[in-house]
Amino acid sequence: MTVITEIEDLRRIYKRRVPKMFYDYAETGSWTQQTFRENTTDFAKIRLRQRIAKDMAGRSTRCRMLGEEWAMPVALAPVGLCGMQHADGEIKAARAAEKFGVPFTLSTMSICSIEDVAEHTEKPFWFQVYTLKDDDFMRRLIARAKDAKCSAIVITVDLQVMGQRHKDLKNGLSAPPKPTPAAILDVMTKWRWALGMAQTKRRFFGNIVGHAKGVSNAASLSSWTAEAFDQSLDWERIKELRDMWDGPVILKGILDAEDAKQALNVGADAIVVSNHGGRQLDGALSSIRALPSIMDAVGDKMEVHFDSGIRSGQDVLKARALGATGTMIGRAFVYGLGAMGEEGVTKALEVIHKELDTSMALCGKRDINDVDRDILLVPEDFEGRWA
Ligand SMILES: Cc1cc2nc3c(=O)[nH]c(=O)nc-3n(C[C@H](O)[C@H](O)[C@H](O)COP(=O)(O)O)c2cc1C
Repeated sequence: MTVITEIEDLRRIYKRRVPKMFYDYAETGSWTQQTFRENTTDFAKIRLRQRIAKDMAGRSTRCRMLGEEWAMPVALAPVGLCGMQHADGEIKAARAAEKFGVPFTLSTMSICSIEDVAEHTEKPFWFQVYTLKDDDFMRRLIARAKDAKCSAIVITVDLQVMGQRHKDLKNGLSAPPKPTPAAILDVMTKWRWALGMAQTKRRFFGNIVGHAKGVSNAASLSSWTAEAFDQSLDWERIKELRDMWDGPVILKGILDAEDAKQALNVGADAIVVSNHGGRQLDGALSSIRALPSIMDAVGDKMEVHFDSGIRSGQDVLKARALGATGTMIGRAFVYGLGAMGEEGVTKALEVIHKELDTSMALCGKRDINDVDRDILLVPEDFEGRWA
């Protein structure tokens, strides 16, 4: 039995246990994957200041995000198709987050529906919406999130057109997988996954099939998604969507200070500085490099959250020290989910919490709320001088 000490351990088990098609779906970025890679390598360029002889007893990572108190400044990011990484994946991940005391964000493109996740959890979760053309569907989706008592809406604004991930095309990604000879051969070696899938009814996009007009099965879904995203999205439409929800609204996918200011103008309560985990515009800045200029632009006026590239508690600490109120983890929890279901997501959260707590202590801080830029050594040219 492998002793799990880091997120990378979970990734290795995940790779062995989940069909290649779904592993590749998570573990790739768009085109050359430059941005995907730099999301993690740029974190390593920032160093931490070791301090000694500071009182490190009685530490706390508890913090506030969107007016609520949480165990640490980490939320589970919206990730599509979690129910293909592990049977009933969204329910499993939501339960792990709830028990740990961090927010769970359900993706529009989930396998388990909003209602299903609400039924199997106790506490409210966040719901992510894509900006889709079908206004009627959008209104009903947001009304469903309200009925399910979701506590915040995350509007993803960086996917008007979809980035290309070569492997998804080559693998013929679909949910559930099509029974091609290669897929059958692969699944035969992933017996845990197959057993779980055989025992669940949840194998289609639960928020869409039976809810979007004309989508009653997997075949009609693929033509719907190809058409669904609103390529003409503008700030006026974002404001309209913002006004459809009377609770906190988070705009996710901001990478530029000018866009951050616009987000503030349309009344967003928070933004997530994000490049979608390197899955959209390849060649864009890594998220951590983009964070400082966005903090300068709006950091004192709204909550700025951060994602893309977090693989450890040290990464969380660095983002927090640069000013982020909270962070989101995507792949780091997906590895846990694919490796070991709910237990694996809990393990991922435990690993990150331990790394965060220990690193914070060794930087001479005992309360996450006292962590600031002072604990970091950031290269002078970190943000880069771009013309
Ligand atoms: C497999 C996968 C599916 C994703 N699906 C969605 C989604 O449905 N909606 C969304 O807003 N973001 C989605 N994202 C982006 C994540 O919310 C998040 O921005 C990203 O994973 C952060 O980068 P990280 O994986 O390096 O932590 C997805 C990411 C991955 C890896």
